Amino acid sequence: MRTLTGITPSGSLHIGNYFGAMRPAIEAQAQGDCFYFIADYHSMTTVTNPAERRTHTRGIALDWLACGLDPQTSVFWRQSDVPEVCELTWMIGSLTPMGLLERAHSFKDKTAKGIPANFGLFAYPVLMAADILLYDTQRVPVGRDQKQHVEMTRDMAIKFNEAYGETLVVPEPVIRDEVAVVPGLDGQKMSKSYGNTIEIFGDEAVLRKKIMGIKMDSRTPAEPKPDADKNLAIQLLRLVAPAAVALDYENRLRAGGLGYGDLKKALFEHYWGYFTVARARRAELAANPDYVESVLRDGATRARAVASVVLKRARKASGLE
Ligand code: ADP
Ligand code: TRP
Repeated sequence: MRTLTGITPSGSLHIGNYFGAMRPAIEAQAQGDCFYFIADYHSMTTVTNPAERRTHTRGIALDWLACGLDPQTSVFWRQSDVPEVCELTWMIGSLTPMGLLERAHSFKDKTAKGIPANFGLFAYPVLMAADILLYDTQRVPVGRDQKQHVEMTRDMAIKFNEAYGETLVVPEPVIRDEVAVVPGLDGQKMSKSYGNTIEIFGDEAVLRKKIMGIKMDSRTPAEPKPDADKNLAIQLLRLVAPAAVALDYENRLRAGGLGYGDLKKALFEHYWGYFTVARARRAELAANPDYVESVLRDGATRARAVASVVLKRARKASGLE
């Protein structure tokens, strides 16, 4: 069963990304046949600064490898190192009705926000379909916001197969509803667009300040707090501390006597401890850019070996060959 997903290099990753997307992807490696790529072509629809793109692409590669992506088990590459995806984009796009693309939520949302409508933004779902179809993908784990794109991918694969005969594998979306939404510093969903993130990696003093700055209510430490399970720091602590430790803090908060400052201090220490091994690994990798580059290049070679077979099939089916 081939699993594939892409990560757009548009900023630093936060613990919402980690618990919602990265950890499940890393765990899925136990089942094998995982294809994970850095969607740098996709970043072109929103990022126009070359240095920024390079920095984010390199940063995301380090983040994933540091967090446990195993490049021996999984195929991990930079999308643009397999430019064949652009050829398949054209083949599929030529069969895709305008109406289908006009209905894409992401296009409608972005243009409604005033982002100028360019061809790339409009064609994004076709490129995403090509990403998926080029590798005979069966499962695509994505957040709910990407579900429509995977459904469009299915439509495009079916259209291609109707036009040219059975050629492309029709994939299934795997929607991670079971993963609870990780709340941000303000209690809303943690998201880079809301400025409420706790990064996975970053400066210790800055991150300590962010966590110590979480707003709590004005009840005194001595007061019992019957709603302790809903406390934001407790919810975050559950992710980064052993279950028994988180429960102990929750019980102490409920009973009264635990101050919010001490609770936040504990949250910071457990959060910082949780990523200690990954942080050391990331520093090691960052000092060795040639190794990281060789991982991505090797991944591209392995990805291309699959892509070239599928592309050949599509070229033959469509009469290009
Ligand atoms: P952001 O909202 O910060 O821009 P993305 O949309 O780039 O994050 O999300 C990348 C992946 O991380 C998606 O699979 C998404 O479902 C997951 N993810 C993002 N934020 C959270 C969160 N707060 N809780 C759980 N998963 C999340
Ligand atoms: N569009 C996805 C996002 O913004 C990233 C992505 C690009 C992707 N190509 C993909 C995800 C293919 C899954 C499969 O999150």
